[in-house]
Amino acid sequence: RAACGAGCNSVTIAPRRRQKRLPPEGRHTMINAAITGWGKCMPPAVLSNADLSTFLDTDDEWIVSRTGMRERRVSHVPAIEMATVAAARALACAGLDAADLDLIVYGSCSNDEQVPNSASGVQVRLGARHAAAMDVNTACTSFLYGLSSAAAMIKSGAVRNAVVIGVELISPYMDWDNRGVAVLFGDGCAAVVLQASDEPIGLLGEKLGCYADARQTLRVRGMGCTYANRGLTLGDTQWDFDGQEIFKRAVHGMGEAAAEVMRKCGVAPEDIDLVVPHQANLRIIESVVKRAGLPMNKVMLTVQRYGNMSAATVPVALVEALEEGRVAPGALLLMPAFGAGLTLCAHLLRWGDRVTPLGTTDIDLPPCTKSALELVQDIRAIKAGAAQRSGGALMAPKLAETLGTLAAVSHA
Ligand code: UT7
Repeated sequence: RAACGAGCNSVTIAPRRRQKRLPPEGRHTMINAAITGWGKCMPPAVLSNADLSTFLDTDDEWIVSRTGMRERRVSHVPAIEMATVAAARALACAGLDAADLDLIVYGSCSNDEQVPNSASGVQVRLGARHAAAMDVNTACTSFLYGLSSAAAMIKSGAVRNAVVIGVELISPYMDWDNRGVAVLFGDGCAAVVLQASDEPIGLLGEKLGCYADARQTLRVRGMGCTYANRGLTLGDTQWDFDGQEIFKRAVHGMGEAAAEVMRKCGVAPEDIDLVVPHQANLRIIESVVKRAGLPMNKVMLTVQRYGNMSAATVPVALVEALEEGRVAPGALLLMPAFGAGLTLCAHLLRWGDRVTPLGTTDIDLPPCTKSALELVQDIRAIKAGAAQRSGGALMAPKLAETLGTLAAVSHA
Protein backbone atom coordinates (compact mmCIF):
# COMPACT_ATOMS: atom_id res chain seq x y z
CA ARG A 1 0.00 0.00 0.00
CA ALA A 2 1.57 3.23 -1.14
CA ALA A 3 0.83 6.50 0.69
CA CYS A 4 0.25 9.66 -1.37
CA GLY A 5 0.10 13.29 -0.28
CA ALA A 6 -3.00 14.95 1.23
CA GLY A 7 -6.12 14.57 -0.88
CA CYS A 8 -4.80 11.60 -2.73
CA ASN A 9 -6.36 8.17 -2.27
CA SER A 10 -3.91 5.48 -1.33
CA VAL A 11 -3.58 2.69 -3.86
CA THR A 12 -2.80 -0.96 -3.51
CA ILE A 13 0.03 -2.15 -5.65
CA ALA A 14 0.09 -5.83 -6.50
CA PRO A 15 3.38 -7.56 -5.76
CA ARG A 16 5.51 -7.76 -8.90
CA ARG A 17 5.52 -11.14 -10.60
CA ARG A 18 8.97 -12.51 -11.16
CA GLN A 19 9.88 -12.10 -14.83
CA LYS A 20 10.03 -15.62 -16.29
CA ARG A 21 10.35 -14.84 -19.99
CA LEU A 22 13.84 -14.75 -21.42
CA PRO A 23 14.82 -11.43 -22.98
CA PRO A 24 14.26 -11.28 -26.75
CA GLU A 25 17.15 -12.21 -29.01
CA GLY A 26 19.99 -9.72 -28.61
CA ARG A 27 18.40 -7.82 -25.70
CA HIS A 28 20.88 -9.31 -23.23
CA THR A 29 23.74 -7.73 -25.20
CA MET A 30 25.01 -4.53 -23.60
CA ILE A 31 24.16 -1.50 -25.72
CA ASN A 32 27.03 0.92 -26.11
CA ALA A 33 27.06 4.51 -27.33
CA ALA A 34 29.68 5.04 -30.03
CA ILE A 35 30.73 8.23 -31.83
CA THR A 36 30.12 7.62 -35.54
CA GLY A 37 30.16 11.20 -36.86
CA TRP A 38 31.93 14.44 -36.08
CA GLY A 39 32.03 17.97 -37.44
CA LYS A 40 33.04 21.46 -36.40
CA CYS A 41 32.01 24.98 -37.33
CA MET A 42 34.56 27.65 -36.54
CA PRO A 43 33.64 31.27 -37.28
CA PRO A 44 36.23 32.66 -39.73
CA ALA A 45 37.11 35.98 -38.00
CA VAL A 46 40.42 35.66 -36.10
CA LEU A 47 41.21 37.95 -33.16
CA SER A 48 44.95 38.03 -32.42
CA ASN A 49 46.76 39.06 -29.24
CA ALA A 50 47.97 42.11 -31.19
CA ASP A 51 44.31 43.02 -31.93
CA LEU A 52 43.52 42.85 -28.20
CA SER A 53 46.43 45.13 -27.32
CA THR A 54 44.97 47.87 -29.57
CA PHE A 55 42.31 48.57 -26.92
CA LEU A 56 43.50 46.72 -23.78
CA ASP A 57 46.54 47.19 -21.54
CA THR A 58 47.96 43.80 -22.50
CA ASP A 59 50.52 42.29 -24.84
CA ASP A 60 51.33 39.12 -26.75
CA GLU A 61 54.17 38.19 -24.40
CA TRP A 62 51.91 38.23 -21.28
CA ILE A 63 49.06 36.34 -22.93
CA VAL A 64 51.26 33.65 -24.47
CA SER A 65 53.40 33.09 -21.37
CA ARG A 66 50.42 33.03 -18.93
CA THR A 67 47.88 31.16 -21.05
CA GLY A 68 49.46 29.72 -24.23
CA MET A 69 46.86 31.59 -26.31
CA ARG A 70 47.80 33.39 -29.54
CA GLU A 71 44.44 33.92 -31.20
CA ARG A 72 40.72 33.13 -30.88
CA ARG A 73 37.61 33.39 -33.07
CA VAL A 74 34.73 35.89 -32.97
CA SER A 75 31.42 34.81 -34.48
CA HIS A 76 29.36 36.98 -36.85
CA VAL A 77 26.32 34.66 -36.52
CA PRO A 78 24.08 33.42 -33.66
CA ALA A 79 25.18 30.27 -31.84
CA ILE A 80 22.33 28.21 -33.29
CA GLU A 81 23.69 28.86 -36.80
CA MET A 82 27.11 27.51 -35.83
CA ALA A 83 25.47 24.55 -34.10
CA THR A 84 23.37 23.69 -37.15
CA VAL A 85 26.40 23.67 -39.47
CA ALA A 86 28.49 21.56 -37.07
CA ALA A 87 25.61 19.10 -36.52
CA ALA A 88 24.92 18.79 -40.27
CA ARG A 89 28.61 18.05 -40.86
CA ALA A 90 28.59 15.43 -38.09
CA LEU A 91 25.49 13.79 -39.61
CA ALA A 92 27.12 13.68 -43.08
CA CYS A 93 30.23 12.18 -41.49
CA ALA A 94 28.09 9.44 -39.90
CA GLY A 95 26.08 8.90 -43.10
CA LEU A 96 22.91 9.54 -41.07
CA ASP A 97 19.82 11.38 -42.23
CA ALA A 98 18.55 14.14 -39.91
CA ALA A 99 15.10 12.46 -40.02
CA ASP A 100 16.66 9.43 -38.26
CA LEU A 101 17.81 11.45 -35.25
CA ASP A 102 16.07 10.65 -31.94
CA LEU A 103 17.79 13.27 -29.80
CA ILE A 104 19.61 16.60 -30.05
CA VAL A 105 21.63 17.72 -27.02
CA TYR A 106 22.79 21.33 -27.09
CA GLY A 107 25.63 21.91 -24.64
CA SER A 108 26.23 25.60 -23.97
CA CYS A 109 26.09 28.43 -21.43
CA SER A 110 25.55 31.11 -24.08
CA ASN A 111 22.11 30.38 -25.46
CA ASP A 112 20.76 32.82 -28.03
CA GLU A 113 17.54 32.95 -25.99
CA GLN A 114 16.40 31.46 -22.70
CA VAL A 115 13.00 30.43 -24.03
CA PRO A 116 12.58 28.61 -26.38
CA ASN A 117 15.53 26.33 -25.86
CA SER A 118 18.34 26.21 -28.41
CA ALA A 119 18.24 22.51 -29.30
CA SER A 120 14.78 23.08 -30.79
CA GLY A 121 16.30 25.75 -33.05
CA VAL A 122 18.78 23.20 -34.36
CA GLN A 123 16.03 20.60 -34.76
CA VAL A 124 13.96 22.82 -37.05
CA ARG A 125 16.96 23.95 -39.10
CA LEU A 126 18.22 20.39 -39.61
CA GLY A 127 14.74 19.03 -40.35
CA ALA A 128 15.26 16.45 -37.60
CA ARG A 129 11.50 16.25 -37.02
CA HIS A 130 11.56 13.03 -34.94
CA ALA A 131 14.26 14.22 -32.53
CA ALA A 132 13.80 15.23 -28.92
CA ALA A 133 15.66 18.45 -28.21
CA MET A 134 17.29 19.43 -24.94
CA ASP A 135 19.81 22.00 -23.68
CA VAL A 136 22.50 21.19 -21.12
CA ASN A 137 24.26 24.01 -19.30
CA THR A 138 27.19 23.12 -17.07
CA ALA A 139 29.34 25.86 -18.64
CA CYS A 140 32.65 24.58 -20.06
CA THR A 141 31.75 20.95 -19.30
CA SER A 142 28.36 21.13 -21.08
CA PHE A 143 29.42 19.05 -24.09
CA LEU A 144 30.75 16.24 -21.89
CA TYR A 145 27.77 16.30 -19.51
CA GLY A 146 25.64 16.21 -22.68
CA LEU A 147 27.62 13.24 -23.95
CA SER A 148 26.94 11.42 -20.68
CA SER A 149 23.21 12.24 -20.91
CA ALA A 150 22.88 11.06 -24.51
CA ALA A 151 24.98 7.94 -23.90
CA ALA A 152 22.84 7.02 -20.88
CA MET A 153 19.66 7.38 -22.97
CA ILE A 154 21.18 5.20 -25.69
CA LYS A 155 22.26 2.57 -23.16
CA SER A 156 18.79 2.54 -21.61
CA GLY A 157 17.23 1.99 -25.03
CA ALA A 158 15.32 5.29 -24.95
CA VAL A 159 17.04 6.56 -28.09
CA ARG A 160 19.35 5.10 -30.75
CA ASN A 161 20.71 8.06 -32.70
CA ALA A 162 21.76 11.31 -31.03
CA VAL A 163 23.71 14.41 -31.91
CA VAL A 164 25.60 16.13 -29.10
CA ILE A 165 26.71 19.71 -29.68
CA GLY A 166 29.22 21.85 -27.80
CA VAL A 167 28.78 25.47 -28.81
CA GLU A 168 29.65 28.83 -27.34
CA LEU A 169 29.06 32.44 -28.38
CA ILE A 170 30.84 34.33 -25.64
CA SER A 171 31.84 37.51 -27.52
CA PRO A 172 28.48 39.38 -27.14
CA TYR A 173 28.55 39.21 -23.33
CA MET A 174 32.31 39.44 -22.78
CA ASP A 175 33.73 42.27 -20.65
CA TRP A 176 35.93 43.45 -23.51
CA ASP A 177 37.50 46.19 -21.39
CA ASN A 178 38.50 43.80 -18.58
CA ARG A 179 41.90 42.34 -19.52
CA GLY A 180 41.51 39.69 -16.81
CA VAL A 181 38.88 37.87 -18.91
CA ALA A 182 38.80 39.40 -22.40
CA VAL A 183 41.99 37.70 -23.57
CA LEU A 184 40.89 34.21 -22.47
CA PHE A 185 37.77 33.28 -24.42
CA GLY A 186 36.65 32.62 -27.98
CA ASP A 187 33.60 31.49 -29.97
CA GLY A 188 33.23 28.14 -31.73
CA CYS A 189 31.30 24.91 -32.14
CA ALA A 190 31.59 21.20 -32.82
CA ALA A 191 29.22 18.24 -32.70
CA VAL A 192 29.31 14.46 -32.65
CA VAL A 193 26.81 11.79 -33.67
CA LEU A 194 26.35 9.14 -31.01
CA GLN A 195 24.76 5.82 -32.03
CA ALA A 196 23.78 2.59 -30.34
CA SER A 197 26.34 -0.14 -30.97
CA ASP A 198 26.82 -3.76 -29.96
CA GLU A 199 30.59 -3.33 -30.22
CA PRO A 200 32.58 -2.73 -26.99
CA ILE A 201 33.32 0.85 -28.08
CA GLY A 202 32.21 4.39 -27.27
CA LEU A 203 31.84 5.98 -23.85
CA LEU A 204 33.41 3.54 -21.36
CA GLY A 205 32.85 5.64 -18.26
CA GLU A 206 32.97 9.08 -16.73
CA LYS A 207 33.44 10.94 -13.48
CA LEU A 208 31.13 13.93 -13.02
CA GLY A 209 31.43 16.43 -10.16
CA CYS A 210 31.11 20.01 -8.97
CA TYR A 211 32.97 22.27 -6.50
CA ALA A 212 29.84 24.26 -5.74
CA ASP A 213 31.43 25.90 -2.67
CA ALA A 214 33.45 27.99 -5.13
CA ARG A 215 30.63 28.76 -7.56
CA GLN A 216 30.92 32.50 -6.87
CA THR A 217 34.43 32.55 -8.41
CA LEU A 218 32.98 32.59 -11.94
CA ARG A 219 29.74 34.45 -12.43
CA VAL A 220 28.29 36.46 -15.31
CA ARG A 221 26.01 39.07 -13.79
CA GLY A 222 23.12 40.31 -15.86
CA MET A 223 22.04 37.02 -17.49
CA GLY A 224 19.09 35.19 -15.93
CA CYS A 225 15.87 35.81 -14.07
CA THR A 226 17.58 37.12 -10.93
CA TYR A 227 18.09 40.36 -12.82
CA ALA A 228 14.67 40.60 -14.47
CA ASN A 229 12.38 43.54 -13.69
CA ARG A 230 14.65 45.08 -11.07
CA GLY A 231 15.64 48.25 -12.84
CA LEU A 232 18.62 46.54 -14.44
CA THR A 233 18.63 45.78 -18.12
CA LEU A 234 18.65 42.03 -18.64
CA GLY A 235 21.58 41.24 -20.91
CA ASP A 236 23.84 44.02 -19.62
CA THR A 237 26.66 41.85 -18.34
CA GLN A 238 29.60 42.06 -15.96
CA TRP A 239 31.93 39.20 -15.02
CA ASP A 240 33.14 38.05 -11.61
CA PHE A 241 36.28 36.01 -12.30
CA ASP A 242 38.79 34.89 -9.66
CA GLY A 243 41.38 33.48 -12.07
CA GLN A 244 43.84 32.17 -9.51
CA GLU A 245 41.22 30.27 -7.48
CA ILE A 246 39.66 28.82 -10.65
CA PHE A 247 43.13 27.81 -11.82
CA LYS A 248 43.84 25.88 -8.60
CA ARG A 249 40.44 24.20 -8.58
CA ALA A 250 40.75 23.31 -12.30
CA VAL A 251 44.10 21.57 -11.81
CA HIS A 252 42.77 19.68 -8.79
CA GLY A 253 39.34 18.88 -10.25
CA MET A 254 40.46 17.72 -13.69
CA GLY A 255 43.33 15.75 -12.12
CA GLU A 256 41.07 13.99 -9.61
CA ALA A 257 38.38 13.28 -12.19
CA ALA A 258 40.93 11.81 -14.62
CA ALA A 259 42.40 9.56 -11.92
CA GLU A 260 38.93 8.46 -10.78
CA VAL A 261 37.62 7.51 -14.23
CA MET A 262 40.81 5.58 -15.02
CA ARG A 263 40.50 3.75 -11.70
CA LYS A 264 36.80 2.99 -12.30
CA CYS A 265 37.48 1.59 -15.77
CA GLY A 266 40.63 -0.31 -14.78
CA VAL A 267 42.81 1.75 -17.11
CA ALA A 268 46.45 2.72 -16.48
CA PRO A 269 47.98 6.00 -17.74
CA GLU A 270 50.09 4.10 -20.27
CA ASP A 271 46.88 2.67 -21.82
CA ILE A 272 45.75 6.17 -22.85
CA ASP A 273 46.48 6.97 -26.49
CA LEU A 274 45.34 10.59 -26.55
CA VAL A 275 44.20 13.20 -24.03
CA VAL A 276 41.64 15.69 -25.37
CA PRO A 277 41.30 18.13 -22.47
CA HIS A 278 39.38 21.32 -21.88
CA GLN A 279 41.69 24.17 -22.90
CA ALA A 280 41.36 27.11 -20.49
CA ASN A 281 45.09 27.60 -20.03
CA LEU A 282 48.16 25.70 -21.31
CA ARG A 283 49.63 25.71 -17.78
CA ILE A 284 46.48 24.03 -16.40
CA ILE A 285 46.69 21.32 -19.09
CA GLU A 286 50.40 20.71 -18.36
CA SER A 287 49.71 20.31 -14.63
CA VAL A 288 46.71 17.99 -15.15
CA VAL A 289 48.55 15.80 -17.63
CA LYS A 290 51.59 15.58 -15.35
CA ARG A 291 49.39 14.60 -12.39
CA ALA A 292 47.78 11.91 -14.55
CA GLY A 293 51.24 10.47 -15.32
CA LEU A 294 51.02 11.20 -19.05
CA PRO A 295 53.45 12.90 -21.44
CA MET A 296 52.49 16.12 -23.29
CA ASN A 297 53.04 14.45 -26.68
CA LYS A 298 49.83 12.51 -26.00
CA VAL A 299 47.79 15.71 -25.65
CA MET A 300 45.70 17.37 -28.36
CA LEU A 301 46.22 21.14 -28.05
CA THR A 302 44.11 23.87 -29.63
CA VAL A 303 44.44 26.54 -26.93
CA GLN A 304 47.00 28.51 -28.94
CA ARG A 305 44.61 28.95 -31.91
CA TYR A 306 41.17 29.12 -30.29
CA GLY A 307 41.61 30.09 -26.61
CA ASN A 308 38.93 28.85 -24.21
CA MET A 309 35.69 28.18 -26.12
CA SER A 310 33.97 26.80 -23.03
CA ALA A 311 31.62 23.96 -24.09
CA ALA A 312 32.99 23.95 -27.65
CA THR A 313 36.59 23.36 -26.60
CA VAL A 314 36.68 19.58 -26.13
CA PRO A 315 34.58 18.65 -29.20
CA VAL A 316 36.54 21.02 -31.47
CA ALA A 317 39.81 19.51 -30.20
CA LEU A 318 38.38 16.02 -30.78
CA VAL A 319 37.33 16.84 -34.35
CA GLU A 320 40.73 18.37 -35.10
CA ALA A 321 42.51 15.34 -33.61
CA LEU A 322 40.54 13.17 -36.07
CA GLU A 323 41.27 15.53 -38.97
CA GLU A 324 44.99 15.45 -38.14
CA GLY A 325 45.06 11.64 -37.97
CA ARG A 326 45.82 11.59 -34.25
CA VAL A 327 42.99 9.17 -33.42
CA ALA A 328 43.90 5.64 -34.51
CA PRO A 329 41.27 2.88 -34.88
CA GLY A 330 40.59 1.45 -31.40
CA ALA A 331 42.32 4.36 -29.62
CA LEU A 332 41.61 5.06 -25.94
CA LEU A 333 40.82 8.72 -25.28
CA LEU A 334 40.78 10.62 -21.97
CA MET A 335 38.78 13.87 -21.89
CA PRO A 336 39.00 15.91 -18.65
CA ALA A 337 37.20 19.25 -18.33
CA PHE A 338 36.33 22.03 -15.90
CA GLY A 339 34.00 25.05 -15.90
CA ALA A 340 31.79 27.51 -14.04
CA GLY A 341 29.80 25.99 -11.22
CA LEU A 342 32.57 24.90 -10.68
CA THR A 343 31.74 21.74 -12.65
CA LEU A 344 34.32 19.08 -13.41
CA CYS A 345 34.45 15.79 -15.26
CA ALA A 346 36.60 13.28 -17.09
CA HIS A 347 35.43 10.82 -19.76
CA LEU A 348 37.05 7.70 -21.19
CA LEU A 349 36.21 6.78 -24.74
CA ARG A 350 37.18 3.76 -26.85
CA TRP A 351 37.21 4.73 -30.52
CA GLY A 352 35.80 2.36 -33.16
CA ASP A 353 37.37 1.23 -36.44
CA ARG A 354 36.39 4.19 -38.59
CA VAL A 355 38.42 7.39 -38.30
CA THR A 356 37.38 8.95 -41.63
CA PRO A 357 34.02 10.53 -42.57
CA LEU A 358 31.46 8.53 -44.56
CA GLY A 359 30.32 11.72 -46.28
CA THR A 360 30.50 15.50 -46.40
CA THR A 361 28.06 18.37 -46.88
CA ASP A 362 28.53 21.79 -48.46
CA ILE A 363 26.53 23.55 -45.72
CA ASP A 364 28.45 26.59 -44.43
CA LEU A 365 28.04 29.85 -42.55
CA PRO A 366 27.25 33.00 -44.54
CA PRO A 367 30.43 34.97 -45.36
CA CYS A 368 31.75 37.34 -42.70
CA THR A 369 32.27 40.85 -44.05
CA LYS A 370 34.05 42.29 -40.98
CA SER A 371 37.34 41.65 -39.27
CA ALA A 372 37.27 40.15 -35.76
CA LEU A 373 38.50 43.45 -34.38
CA GLU A 374 35.63 45.29 -36.10
CA LEU A 375 33.14 42.78 -34.65
CA VAL A 376 34.60 43.34 -31.17
CA GLN A 377 34.53 47.11 -31.58
CA ASP A 378 30.82 46.85 -32.49
CA ILE A 379 30.16 44.83 -29.31
CA ARG A 380 32.21 47.30 -27.22
CA ALA A 381 30.09 50.16 -28.55
CA ILE A 382 26.88 48.34 -27.55
CA LYS A 383 28.38 47.49 -24.16
CA ALA A 384 29.36 51.09 -23.51
CA GLY A 385 25.62 51.84 -23.45
CA ALA A 386 25.08 48.87 -21.16
CA ALA A 387 27.68 50.20 -18.72
CA GLN A 388 25.73 53.45 -18.49
CA ARG A 389 22.42 51.66 -18.04
CA SER A 390 23.25 48.94 -15.52
CA GLY A 391 27.00 48.66 -15.07
CA GLY A 392 27.38 50.53 -11.81
CA ALA A 393 24.34 48.88 -10.28
CA LEU A 394 25.44 45.43 -11.43
CA MET A 395 28.77 45.63 -9.64
CA ALA A 396 27.74 47.79 -6.68
CA PRO A 397 28.84 46.30 -3.36
CA LYS A 398 25.31 46.93 -2.04
CA LEU A 399 23.74 45.00 -4.89
CA ALA A 400 23.33 41.89 -2.77
CA GLU A 401 21.43 43.86 -0.16
CA THR A 402 19.28 45.58 -2.75
CA LEU A 403 18.30 42.46 -4.62
CA GLY A 404 16.90 39.80 -2.35
CA THR A 405 17.24 36.82 -4.64
CA LEU A 406 20.66 37.89 -5.82
CA ALA A 407 21.82 38.08 -2.23
CA ALA A 408 21.01 34.42 -1.85
CA VAL A 409 22.73 33.56 -5.11
CA SER A 410 25.82 35.70 -4.47
CA HIS A 411 26.60 34.09 -1.19
CA ALA A 412 25.61 30.56 -2.06
O1 UT7 B 1 37.03 27.54 -18.47
C1 UT7 B 1 36.75 28.17 -17.24
C2 UT7 B 1 37.90 27.99 -16.38
N1 UT7 B 1 38.80 29.11 -16.45
C3 UT7 B 1 40.04 28.93 -16.07
O2 UT7 B 1 40.39 27.83 -15.78
C4 UT7 B 1 40.96 30.11 -15.95
C5 UT7 B 1 41.90 29.87 -14.79
N2 UT7 B 1 42.80 30.98 -14.50
C6 UT7 B 1 43.84 31.29 -15.30
O3 UT7 B 1 44.03 30.72 -16.35
C7 UT7 B 1 44.82 32.34 -14.82
O4 UT7 B 1 44.60 32.62 -13.46
C8 UT7 B 1 44.75 33.66 -15.64
C9 UT7 B 1 45.29 33.45 -17.04
C10 UT7 B 1 43.32 34.16 -15.69
C11 UT7 B 1 45.61 34.75 -14.96
O5 UT7 B 1 46.94 34.29 -14.86
P1 UT7 B 1 47.74 34.48 -13.50
O6 UT7 B 1 49.10 33.96 -13.74
O7 UT7 B 1 46.92 33.85 -12.42
O8 UT7 B 1 47.81 36.05 -13.38
P2 UT7 B 1 47.27 36.96 -12.18
O9 UT7 B 1 45.79 37.01 -12.18
O10 UT7 B 1 47.97 36.55 -10.92
O11 UT7 B 1 47.83 38.37 -12.59
C12 UT7 B 1 49.24 38.65 -12.60
C13 UT7 B 1 49.42 40.07 -13.09
C14 UT7 B 1 48.55 41.08 -12.37
O12 UT7 B 1 49.29 42.27 -12.25
P3 UT7 B 1 49.99 42.64 -10.85
O13 UT7 B 1 48.86 42.76 -9.87
O14 UT7 B 1 50.94 41.54 -10.56
O15 UT7 B 1 50.65 43.96 -11.17
C15 UT7 B 1 47.42 41.30 -13.34
O16 UT7 B 1 46.83 42.57 -13.20
O17 UT7 B 1 49.08 40.15 -14.47
C16 UT7 B 1 48.13 41.20 -14.65
N3 UT7 B 1 47.26 40.84 -15.76
C17 UT7 B 1 47.55 41.12 -17.03
N4 UT7 B 1 48.60 41.74 -17.61
C18 UT7 B 1 48.59 41.85 -18.94
C19 UT7 B 1 46.08 40.17 -15.69
N5 UT7 B 1 45.60 40.02 -16.93
C20 UT7 B 1 46.49 40.59 -17.77
C21 UT7 B 1 46.55 40.75 -19.17
N6 UT7 B 1 47.62 41.37 -19.72
N7 UT7 B 1 45.59 40.26 -19.99
